[in-house]
Amino acid sequence: MSIKRIVVLFSGEGSNLENIIKKLHKKSFGLDSYEVVAGITNKKEAKGIQICKKYNIPSYVIEHKNYTSREEFDTKLVEIINSFHPHLTVLAGFMRILTPIFTKNIKAINLHPSLLPLFKGTNAIEKSFYSDMKVGGVSIHYVSKELDGGEIIAQECFKKDEDETLESFAKKIKSLEYKLLPQAIVKILTKKA
Ligand code: GRF
Repeated sequence: MSIKRIVVLFSGEGSNLENIIKKLHKKSFGLDSYEVVAGITNKKEAKGIQICKKYNIPSYVIEHKNYTSREEFDTKLVEIINSFHPHLTVLAGFMRILTPIFTKNIKAINLHPSLLPLFKGTNAIEKSFYSDMKVGGVSIHYVSKELDGGEIIAQECFKKDEDETLESFAKKIKSLEYKLLPQAIVKILTKKA
């Protein structure tokens, strides 16, 4: 039995953080036990901080405005992540463009609310909802130096209903995220090296 250590990065609500904690934290999969060892955010008002507190998981705030460059911020972020010796770092709503200082040093995956490679970057839910496409979807990919461009690990789509609203569309995305992200984490962490 070994312990698989997970660090989660977030910037806002943290509902995916909470979903990961509920489904994976202190649970066993195969011969391994999983632990969310830390939550890290770049926003001091992020609701995810309260979620970490609720589950007794250490949380850290690193505000990017206190750093003079992206590289300097990423150096500090990498240092904090590595102090937890994670097997995997999960970006769950972490709104920050990362430099090679991060991507070369951290094995990380990102959750994106569209069918990549379509609708990269911000406002992906709106872009995908207002597009001509008849489906929406969710992607999970490795974090690479290209924004939302790393290798896709998992992806699923759903049908846009005739009477679909932005709200109902966003709800479908969230529930698909809650299903896919924990599954992808387990898939990666059970893979033989
Ligand atoms: C998710 O929709 C994710 O795809 C996007 O940011 C959102 C985070 O939501 N990158 P939450 O903070 O986990 O509720």
